[in-house]
Amino acid sequence: MADPTPDANRGAWNSKLGFILAASGSAIGLGNIVFFASNAYQYGGGAFYLPYFIALFVMGIPIMILEFTVGTMTGRSIPLALGKLAGKKGEFVGWWSLASALTITMYYITILGWALAMLVGSFGSLFEPGATAPFEPFLEPSEGVNSQVWFFNMIATWWPLVAVSVIWALTAILLWKGTETIEKGVRVFVPLMWVFMIGLVIHGLTLPGGTDGVAYLFTPNLDGITDIQVWQGAFAQMFFSLSLGLGTMVAYASYLPRDADNVNNSLLVSFLNCGFEYIAGIAIFAILFVYALNPAGGTLSLSFFVIPQGIAGFSELPLLVKSFGVFFFFLLVIAGLTSAVSLVEGMASALIDKLGISRARALALVMTPGVAGSLTFALPFIVDPALSGDGTLGFTLFDLVDHWAFRYSLITVGLLECLLLGWVLGAEKIRAAVNEHSKFKLPAFFDWMIKLIIPAILGFVLIGTLYEDI
Ligand code: PHE
Repeated sequence: MADPTPDANRGAWNSKLGFILAASGSAIGLGNIVFFASNAYQYGGGAFYLPYFIALFVMGIPIMILEFTVGTMTGRSIPLALGKLAGKKGEFVGWWSLASALTITMYYITILGWALAMLVGSFGSLFEPGATAPFEPFLEPSEGVNSQVWFFNMIATWWPLVAVSVIWALTAILLWKGTETIEKGVRVFVPLMWVFMIGLVIHGLTLPGGTDGVAYLFTPNLDGITDIQVWQGAFAQMFFSLSLGLGTMVAYASYLPRDADNVNNSLLVSFLNCGFEYIAGIAIFAILFVYALNPAGGTLSLSFFVIPQGIAGFSELPLLVKSFGVFFFFLLVIAGLTSAVSLVEGMASALIDKLGISRARALALVMTPGVAGSLTFALPFIVDPALSGDGTLGFTLFDLVDHWAFRYSLITVGLLECLLLGWVLGAEKIRAAVNEHSKFKLPAFFDWMIKLIIPAILGFVLIGTLYEDI
């Protein structure tokens, strides 16, 4: 059968640097800045480190090598790539992972929209307590800390809908010419987010008492080692943080030359990602401890109430300090944007590969449900029921989707990828393909990691989560 998309039309990275920037830009996102810190806090600071570190070596890096190799071996996005390597079942797993990607993209972009709206708001008095909004605000100024009131005033305006549309438009612009435009974007945004994050770390550490938070984060604490939930949290966080299981890394690797060194690339991308995550943890914990803030109440409240309250103080602190709030939201927006772009690229390139349609059409096909979903999540009455009595976000549609995607879907895709590639294609074929071009040669043990060890761990995590849920 004729291939509908000759490789020349699919795009290719200009340089290895372009690929590393794009893949690390995908990996570094909201997951690194807020999800990691709130997980680390929830699971007791130092107690989270060891499981997380183990998750990186036992599962994160091997699965990234696997996904990069699937991309470079086939030159296709995840459904056709897994289809080529492992037959119809493989293709099915690929489409399934993209269905999860679509769901995750919807709410990921809603969060980015909120961050953008708050960014705009932090320049003026748009969402100040008492600001009038078209919808009923959910909090009286006296009910919560300032940043909460700001957030809920913001939700009650039209701003989130505008901001969500802007983020989607930016995503489309960055994807307009595929690798060419992605590369242009990441060359600016990825270095910029490192600069901003390092600025926040310096700010956090130079505040009086800032180092106490860092001590909490880095003091080894072996209590957590026996708690299965800590391990589950660490594995789920690692998957999401490294952008695995959603077709992203396969798509990005499919634009690499066939002889790329996948071991080297995986090590680079995962170390850049985890390095960023650790320093983000330092910045956030320093700020939390200085202001004696409690990040309980979930990831959303951490990013929108707690950290901004600490960093920005909003109208309570002098303008100079307030500007750090601007940096924080700007950082969220650019770090998240390069991740959102990669999520959408995974889906769009799959449609291009499968249907042989133009990029513009593929983007339209992804964006129609995507934009509708993000706007829905941003509607005030969707957020409204999320408010629990103490002003934190509670159990909602939002949390439900997040829980389903985060805890089940990604891990299931990873598990099936390992089983299909390990047993149907044969892990030794993957290893041979990797070793042909990599300086560091994978040992035969890698085969058993893919066939048995990783599936057993992921299966264990899934069953554990299911057991807790029912
Ligand atoms: N890794 C990104 C983050 O940490 C999220 C993401 C997941 C992006 C999967 C693409 C694919 O925010």
